Amino acid sequence: MSGYVLEMEGISKAFPGVQALDNVELKVRPGTVHALMGENGAGKSTLMKILIGLYQEDEGTIKLDGQLVKIPNTSAGLALGVSMIHQELSPVPERNVAENIYLGREITGKFGLVSQRTMRQAAQELFDRWGIQINPRSKMKELSIAQTQMVEIAKAISYDSRIIIMDEPTSAITEVEVEHLFRIIRALRTEGTSIIYITHKMDEVFQIADDVTVYRDGKWVATKPASELDHDKLITLMVGRELTNLFPKLEAEIGEVVLEVKGLNRGDVVKDVSFNVRRGEILGFAGLMGAGRTEVLETVFGVEKADSGEIIVEGKPVRVASPDDAIAAGMGLLTEDRKLTGIMPILSVRDNMVMAAAPKYSPSGFLDFAQINKDCAEQVKALSIKTPSLKQAIGNLSGGNQQKVLISRWLLTSPEILMIDEPTRGIDVGAKSEIHKLMSQLAQQGKAIIMVSSEMPEVLGMSDRIVVMHEGKVSGIVDRADATQEVIMQLATGMETGEAK
Ligand SMILES: Nc1ncnc2c1ncn2[C@@H]1O[C@H](COP(=O)(O)OP(=O)(O)OP(=O)(O)O)[C@@H](O)[C@H]1O
Ligand SMILES: [Mg+2]
Repeated sequence: MSGYVLEMEGISKAFPGVQALDNVELKVRPGTVHALMGENGAGKSTLMKILIGLYQEDEGTIKLDGQLVKIPNTSAGLALGVSMIHQELSPVPERNVAENIYLGREITGKFGLVSQRTMRQAAQELFDRWGIQINPRSKMKELSIAQTQMVEIAKAISYDSRIIIMDEPTSAITEVEVEHLFRIIRALRTEGTSIIYITHKMDEVFQIADDVTVYRDGKWVATKPASELDHDKLITLMVGRELTNLFPKLEAEIGEVVLEVKGLNRGDVVKDVSFNVRRGEILGFAGLMGAGRTEVLETVFGVEKADSGEIIVEGKPVRVASPDDAIAAGMGLLTEDRKLTGIMPILSVRDNMVMAAAPKYSPSGFLDFAQINKDCAEQVKALSIKTPSLKQAIGNLSGGNQQKVLISRWLLTSPEILMIDEPTRGIDVGAKSEIHKLMSQLAQQGKAIIMVSSEMPEVLGMSDRIVVMHEGKVSGIVDRADATQEVIMQLATGMETGEAK
């Protein structure tokens, strides 16, 4: 016996215009957590989609417990004991939680009819066993992104697979939920299940992984026990060079107030929120998941209607009843969840990129495609977006590269006020520092930037001032010089610090 539960060897896979995988391997030991690392577009998700039978390899072999297997489709994958939590969630919004978990394998009762009751009970048992507090009767569309993610996790576990693949499972959940997930992972590991864990977060790797495999540009680079690696060694393996400054915040001149928000209220999610942001400034929004940060951005941008409050742009009150009003007032919003509100998967990279700026390119009523192609090509270059061409459907890009296209979408509108919700979620270390640099440069050009981020180093590293929210309210606004992790966490958890303004 080889001692591996999984051996993938010599795997190659090409898509039109891209060699996604070139002769790569992956060997996973039973009862271990095996992290897959690598830059955006390295081929991690593609390799996993081959393992579950969603894609077919062009070349290579797969062995489970030493036996050669073919995995022609996803039902074969599941039957062989391989399940996956996908990077891009795809719940059926109109169905309830239990139905989503048992989608395609509905539990039937008498006369072969689908038994809602049995499915709900099974879902409840699953949730009880793993300590998940979600009502199996809730419709998926009523859940937050974090809850949706927990349902996906429960679903993957429910197959009792010998290998569970988690593709960036923590990109949409808070620290408390990450801890919960890690407890689940450790329990699964003790039972002998192997977890293949994809993430861009270094600290997670060192907390949870036993082994690490690194890929770069579709090629296998190394497999090592996590104990032999540290932060710097891992980055060097991933990017093939050393990255020194992760957060190159540049000095920008802070000018006059561009946007002022006064007494904003919406339902019980946004309560009496006031803040302003100045030219050249990066204003960070910190807080726990559900604190109301995203809701503030959505309300300011007109996605949701405010119950009361004032929005003042460059000294003039503006009425923002829809995103069009907000765009006309010089705002841009990059949403936190690219699958649900961001990308149009079947449209091309170019069409996705130019979507918000289209009016600018049609002064005479006709779209100026020459200019559009030129500007889009420039964005691809500036943000190092990995795509075979501007015509590629964006749905075919890796997760991180989709995010970069969305950032370009707003850069093309040249907004004066750019709001970015979780700018580097799912983005690799190299691209992360590029995006941070870009944000700094935009601030230097006199733009006002509002950034919601759940990553403490990002908040502390990038922000000039930090608005901390707790249960819909602003619990404090902290200057860069006074900002520490402790101060932010205290405000975020609603503890009094005495410094809150
Ligand atoms: N269905 C597809 N059609 C065409 N190209 C694809 C398809 N799926 C993936 N690719 C390409 O294959 C390459 C590898 O993508 P993959 O999604 O595996 O990367 P990844 O390592 O998961 O990256 P990320 O960290 O950004 O999620 C990328 O260049 C991507 O654009
Ligand atoms: Mg991926």
